[in-house]
Amino acid sequence: MKKNLILALCLLLAGGLSAQDLIHLSTPHTSLVLSAPEGGRLRYVYYGTKLTHTDLKALEGTSIADAYPEYGSSCPAEAALAVTQADGNMSLQLEVERVATTDSDGAQEVAIRLRDTVYPFSVAVCYRAYHDVDIIECWTELTNSGKKPVTLRQFASAYLPVRRGDVWVSHLHGSWANEANLVQEPLKPGMLVIDNKDGVRNSHTDHAEVMLSLDGRPQENAGRTIGAALCYAGNYKLRIDTHDGEYHNFFAGINEENSQYVLERNETFCTPELALTYSSEGLSGASRNFHRWARQYKLANGTKLRKILLNSWEGVYFDITEEGMDQMMQDIAGMGGELFVMDDGWFGAKYPRNKDTSSLGDWVVDTRKLPHGISGLLANAKKHGIGFGLWIEPEMTNTTSELYEKHPDWIVNAPQRDPVTGRGGTQLVLDLSNPEVQDFVFNLVDTLMSNYPGLEYLKWDANMSIPSHGSGYLPADRQSHLYIDYHRGLEQVMKRIRAKYPDLTIQACASGGGRANYGVLPWFDEFWVSDNTDALQRVYMQWGTSLFFPAVAMASHISAAPNHQTFRTIPLKYRIDVAMSGRLGMEIQPKNMTDEEKNLCRKAIGEYKQIRPVVQQGDIYRLLSPYDKLGAASLMYVSPEKDKAVFYWWKTEHFVNQHLPRVPMAGLHPDKCYRVHELNRIDNKPLDCEGKVYTGAYLMANGLELPYNHVVDYHKQNDYASRVLYLEEVER
Ligand code: GLA
Repeated sequence: MKKNLILALCLLLAGGLSAQDLIHLSTPHTSLVLSAPEGGRLRYVYYGTKLTHTDLKALEGTSIADAYPEYGSSCPAEAALAVTQADGNMSLQLEVERVATTDSDGAQEVAIRLRDTVYPFSVAVCYRAYHDVDIIECWTELTNSGKKPVTLRQFASAYLPVRRGDVWVSHLHGSWANEANLVQEPLKPGMLVIDNKDGVRNSHTDHAEVMLSLDGRPQENAGRTIGAALCYAGNYKLRIDTHDGEYHNFFAGINEENSQYVLERNETFCTPELALTYSSEGLSGASRNFHRWARQYKLANGTKLRKILLNSWEGVYFDITEEGMDQMMQDIAGMGGELFVMDDGWFGAKYPRNKDTSSLGDWVVDTRKLPHGISGLLANAKKHGIGFGLWIEPEMTNTTSELYEKHPDWIVNAPQRDPVTGRGGTQLVLDLSNPEVQDFVFNLVDTLMSNYPGLEYLKWDANMSIPSHGSGYLPADRQSHLYIDYHRGLEQVMKRIRAKYPDLTIQACASGGGRANYGVLPWFDEFWVSDNTDALQRVYMQWGTSLFFPAVAMASHISAAPNHQTFRTIPLKYRIDVAMSGRLGMEIQPKNMTDEEKNLCRKAIGEYKQIRPVVQQGDIYRLLSPYDKLGAASLMYVSPEKDKAVFYWWKTEHFVNQHLPRVPMAGLHPDKCYRVHELNRIDNKPLDCEGKVYTGAYLMANGLELPYNHVVDYHKQNDYASRVLYLEEVER
């Protein structure tokens, strides 16, 4: 008996449960503490820096709020969960039933099972705390054990109380071709709602991630910061409710609007994970935590370096020909690139895809354009010594297509109503809640990969929202499941694809940056940040994106001047320097480039290969924000060993005799010595710092003096300036 008691106590403590029913989840530098007395309420106690045993003990007997507030126990307050029982009862009252803890290699998982005091309805509030990255994922599993269905009206993934004071929120807002603009505002009384209702894509306008700066106006490298990223690809809703209490109430989850979910008997509904991080090193500190977790756990092939590619879209648009593709492949290979991607326009038999009005779904090669098909192109790519990839848009069709002629019932549209079309006036969304459609989408990829095993890369696009709510597959009384089941369908397909083709590189594109989210990234290697490739605007968009997503996932391409979206003429040097801060690629017709331009790109590609591990796997330190409007922007990546770093500096506006700030660096080792070398140099004379050795301490205290213009021949002068510096550790 005594032995059993000791064993039980050991298990309890190993699982993070103290004798006072405290659950202590911890990561290398953070702690999350809950109180879960059996038969009592699950209460939130603490989230922040890692607690010592002494502090943990001091927290015993204290708590802040219910950890997963349900509607019914305190109706005037915002709720995370609201359900209607079969008998019409709209309330819940949850108490702790049991706590289960498992410890795997990578993480500690805790599931606290709550059950309703009257109805056979239970909730598992789940947490996953990683051992090697400072992220705690939270989600819930809602189970109906009754005989009749229960309706879920609200079903957030998680709730977090945040102490009021001078809390600021940073979030991303934008639109097509202007994605991921950083918005920073203090939290005020009232409700801040950040949501999405697109149905298919969810990051054009707003993003499902936020940072909360607890010490006033957000700083990049100082200040207590909570980061939260909802790992979901569909409609979401983030709410920050500031009422009359001491806490801001943060809720995140699937957007429940028009998505009431009927939970059958014995069915369990899993909400998507909310990933939480905490850092006392400001926004950049929280970003580094997200990036490490992403590369390690949340991004397909996140620890692999990405190839440097040329994508055909802005070079030729729909004008695909065999000779044209061959020429582009030869050109990118000649500049040192490693992969070529043929974008839209290569398919369609009965209806050739010459513009965006037809053919989606007819995934057969148009042999009028490509007489030797994909095999011919693959053979040419091989000849040039590069890889080859393809654009597809598998979730869509057009009214003008063989697929739609055969399966008009496969589309998403309100029953009885004329199809509401999107892009090109003819595009339609396929109904991924339908398993037949899921098979069709899986088979498209499977057939391509079986027929052309040499394919290395797919650009997976999604260029439309759901304009008309309705599924021909879902029964009449389950139409409100469409938005959720669409994304479950997509997940099913992606899981099958990834199980069979784990090494295939897949880009998530969705009219540009519509799918930058951690819902899809477990299946995708990267995303297209925006259809806007203008380097100056990209400084802003990539800055915002980098708050949550690592450079290895951010496709960033050198494109033409004037730019095709902004019509701005930006010198090649600047376009290169911006593209080199993400996953470098090109989006241009190399035929139209001069030899001098090609040489500059060849040099840049060669240098990018050298810094690629630092950019794609290093730690980000954002230094000078373009949003602060000080005339320049700057950030750097530092290798985990702190022996190499890449520093970027871009001028963002141009005035004569401007006084731009000198930018102190960050993230270096103060005691190490670094030799400075400028990459992509165009100046006639080297920088004063070229080849010189500085200590990390000096560079972090003072930065380096950078001239605000380039010293080039008169006819080459222009109004842009940018610098990329490579720092390498040298022996003292
Ligand atoms: C979308 C993508 C572009 C391109 C086109 C092709 O707009 O974002 O990059 O692939 O589709 O039609």
